[in-house]
Amino acid sequence: MNEKKMIDIAREVLNNAYAPYSKYRVGAVVETSSGNFYTGCNVENMSFGLTVCAERVAIFKAISNGEKSITRVVIISDDDSIPIPCGACLQVMSEFSDRDLEVIVSSRDGKLERFKLADLLPNPFKFNKEE
Ligand code: THU
Repeated sequence: MNEKKMIDIAREVLNNAYAPYSKYRVGAVVETSSGNFYTGCNVENMSFGLTVCAERVAIFKAISNGEKSITRVVIISDDDSIPIPCGACLQVMSEFSDRDLEVIVSSRDGKLERFKLADLLPNPFKFNKEE
């Protein structure tokens, strides 16, 4: 799927966002290493800390469907600001991707930026588990 199609789908999924508190709706599409695509939107909660971001919803949908890794993430907001993923989402991305994961972000008015995960999160959390 080309980037434009991913952006169009993310923009559609944004309509499913449950964001009555922030009124900031976000849509996401992730591509997996097996070539499949999963969508997500932000889902807020009255207990604000339980809110889950759009990109994390999409990643968890992918992993729970048996996908092993992600290769591209598109995130769209319905605001004029570009939705740079939060630290929690970047850490989740780093769990399931290479450092060169492509992260494409776009705003309502069409501003678009492309990043590598390594640029957004140069030092993800890691520990050395016993083998
Ligand atoms: N949000 C996302 O879904 N993705 C981002 O990249 C940034 C923030 C959501 C969480 C919350 O519902 C709203 O945006 C405001 O923080």
